[in-house]
Amino acid sequence: MSINIAIDGPVASGKGAVTKGLSKKLGIPALDTGAAYRAVTLFLLENNIDLQDEKLILMNLNKINLRLYMAENHDVRVFTQGQDVTGRIRDNRVSLAVPTVAAYAGVRDYVNHQIAVVASQGNYILEGRDIGTVVLPNADYKFYLTASLEVRAQRRKADLDAKGEHLSLLEVMQQVKQRDEQDINRKIAPLRQAPDAIYVDSSNLTLEQTIDTLAKYIKL
Ligand code: DC
Repeated sequence: MSINIAIDGPVASGKGAVTKGLSKKLGIPALDTGAAYRAVTLFLLENNIDLQDEKLILMNLNKINLRLYMAENHDVRVFTQGQDVTGRIRDNRVSLAVPTVAAYAGVRDYVNHQIAVVASQGNYILEGRDIGTVVLPNADYKFYLTASLEVRAQRRKADLDAKGEHLSLLEVMQQVKQRDEQDINRKIAPLRQAPDAIYVDSSNLTLEQTIDTLAKYIKL
């Protein structure tokens, strides 16, 4: 029987790092579902498609040919039109545009189909915004991971600094807040804690402590 673990949470909640760590600890591959929304957004930006034009976006979905592959080290690699775009999906311009794109029902159906194809192949830890609520409501384990706005903005700033994209902490905090509002207020599959998800606030926990907190709930 396959095991599915859903980890949802807001921007910079540490989901990515925690999912990777948990994946290593448990020996279960992880799938970062945000990477799929990012790849769709990158494609639209690079092809100068107006992000407000839902109709045009939906007409272009069949050209994207989105594919998600798990690399040996459990990292997801994302391809569009046969090209590996993984290195570009975390650019800040993609981060700022992706909530608009992820709010369209047609885009969500398209991405959810790709996720389902991968998840059906075995045990997975799936990380996103709506995994426990929409994509896998019957997941074996569900977690809602979060942290205070200040801590999340500091984490996000550190990620951006490491990539050479330098913004002030205040600017980053404003961006994180805006992305939260977009994810929480969108009509379709908004970011919510599933009623049966375990709530974990990592504001005062190290990465290792957070991974251990989740791991202790999971019986394989
Ligand atoms: O986790 P992330 O920042 O890489 O996610 C990118 C965007 O994709 C974010 O704006 C929320 C959206 N997303 C979503 O709507 N549903 C998911 N399952 C995963 C991500």
